[in-house]
Amino acid sequence: MLRTSRNSSSIILGNLDWSPRQKGIMGRIAVTDGMAEAAVFILESAGHEVVLRHYNAKELRTGALSDFDAVVIRSATKMTAEAIEASCINGRLGFIGRAGVGVDNIDIESASENSVMVCNTPGASTKSVVELTIGHLIASTRFVARADRTLRSGGWAKKQLRGSELGGKRLGLIGFGRIARGVADLAHSFGMEVNAFDPYVSGDQAAELNCVMHDGVDGLFKACTHISIHCNLSKDTHHLVNHERLSMMPDIGADGTACGNHIVNCARGGIVDESAVLEALQSGKLSSAALDVFEVEPAIGNPLLEHERFHGSPHIGAATLEAQTRVGTEMAGLIVAFFNGERPESAIN
Ligand code: MLT
Repeated sequence: MLRTSRNSSSIILGNLDWSPRQKGIMGRIAVTDGMAEAAVFILESAGHEVVLRHYNAKELRTGALSDFDAVVIRSATKMTAEAIEASCINGRLGFIGRAGVGVDNIDIESASENSVMVCNTPGASTKSVVELTIGHLIASTRFVARADRTLRSGGWAKKQLRGSELGGKRLGLIGFGRIARGVADLAHSFGMEVNAFDPYVSGDQAAELNCVMHDGVDGLFKACTHISIHCNLSKDTHHLVNHERLSMMPDIGADGTACGNHIVNCARGGIVDESAVLEALQSGKLSSAALDVFEVEPAIGNPLLEHERFHGSPHIGAATLEAQTRVGTEMAGLIVAFFNGERPESAIN
């Protein structure tokens, strides 16, 4: 269904044909994947009705959100074209808030066609994802989880668990946005040399931050023993980390240490070809792989979980008290602005 403008004063912003909401009209807001209490308080204090309930894919496809003015989702709710169409049958839904960064679970084109504004909270979880990325880098190069497992099972694997330092090694960042820059900062403090690939960032900008920018992603793999992913999932980045690129990694660190190759993904599942990663772990081409995100989540029964040198977590990059409070309160502010007839800064369409 292609929804036409709400009234004659509608304005075109980006690719969204959008009419500001009439001020003072309160909304009915569905929060499908949870939200910080402080954020619910902001919305309710502003006079809005908040319904906290998860809707499954079938419910979404059959119009469960059609009596709401706005919906706030995280990654568990998929606003596909079909779900958006069904949510818009009453012409009521006008706002999809993604409490987080990635909007790959929202069909933006369909939202625009239906005059639904999409907003996210792009900076609210940066610190938490940066810290988890560094945590995974250290945990996998120093066998933190494996050491704990062997200890608990009565072992004392001191000799087998000889890792390598991050200092003196070259870290390659795929994508050089907020999170990657935060990782670069901390990596510098460990004494790492930071390289990056990001077609949208100039070499000069990177040089200012003491990072070496590569023209192509292959160059990054050839130069770096440690790679961390910080880009969005799109058609272009699907399986960007594949067998061919993993086989380009140098094995020997920039400081001459035989540290092997290491890969971390706290961005999005699907950017890494997981079967190529498993093969590279089995062949020894990769010394470790750490994933917080998977192609299929929850990653129950994923064959990577069987590999000793794999280190995983269940998509917890933004799962901190601080990030969730920031994400929620920022999102509540965006919704209040939307109902005041404003176009929030983080509007995507
Ligand atoms: C995000 O995109 O913000 C993160 O993946 C967090 C999440 O969805 O849980």
